[in-house]
Amino acid sequence: MYEELKKRVEREKAFHNQEKDVSKKASDFKNLFKNYFLNPSLIEMEEYFSQAKNISNKNVLDFGCGYGKDFDDLLKKDNMLTGIDISELYIRHCSKYCKEKFPNKKFDFFAMDAHDLKFKDETFDLVIGRGILHHLDFNIAIQEVKRVLKKDGKAYFQEPLGDNPLLKLFRLLTPNLRTKDERPFYKEDILNLEKDFQIKFTYYGMFSFIASIITSPFTKNGNNFLVKFLYNIEKKLLKNDKFKYFAHYVIFKIEK
Ligand SMILES: C[S@@+](CC[C@H](N)C(=O)[O-])C[C@H]1O[C@@H](n2cnc3c(N)ncnc32)[C@H](O)[C@@H]1O
Repeated sequence: MYEELKKRVEREKAFHNQEKDVSKKASDFKNLFKNYFLNPSLIEMEEYFSQAKNISNKNVLDFGCGYGKDFDDLLKKDNMLTGIDISELYIRHCSKYCKEKFPNKKFDFFAMDAHDLKFKDETFDLVIGRGILHHLDFNIAIQEVKRVLKKDGKAYFQEPLGDNPLLKLFRLLTPNLRTKDERPFYKEDILNLEKDFQIKFTYYGMFSFIASIITSPFTKNGNNFLVKFLYNIEKKLLKNDKFKYFAHYVIFKIEK
């Protein structure tokens, strides 16, 4: 692997291995704003992911699992779950969590670099990754994912987009919620990926996430007037090829 990439992976590892780690800081921040979790765009995105996870008795890889968001859904349906992450801290947490909560299910966790998976070709039926590709050299990582996917296997990735000026401002104001090297996806990245890989993209949120955060201190109604108003506008804009790149999140669906 290239020297520069190795150094970047080491920096990511250091960020995520600290006691007050970046993922914990980001999730503590979101927990301050309860309406964030009731946002209609977020709910739509979760519904899409739920469909992807609606399988049983399959081999599933959680790619860059962090503290793990999808373990319960996958293990309750008797899937064989493998999780990898660069952070030993998260891997220890995930192993302990699954051993305590699902003592009779099949799972395994490894501290592993996502650019260099130690699995045989065609091992997994499903790969899911949330907020991971933008921490990586995504071209290398996508090739690795395709290698370990079985024929007819599928991969789903949820990633942040970087072109929306409001979200740029938000990121500028909250630098300690991110690692030094992470970089959201831009329109040109998506266009290049469309050329090089067979990927289907779907787009979620634009300004309604910010409205959910701003309105949280004032109302418990997650579908309040401001959120609903902005959500209806963004829904229309997201259908337009010119505006969709200003979305908050994109989901990549990769089929082998
Ligand atoms: C934004 S967090 C997302 C975690 C989890 N998927 C979630 O949704 O909560 C990004 C994750 O990528 C992991 N990561 C960063 N670089 C990595 C690499 N080279 N190999 C494996 N994992 C990596 C981090 O340790 C972190 O857990």
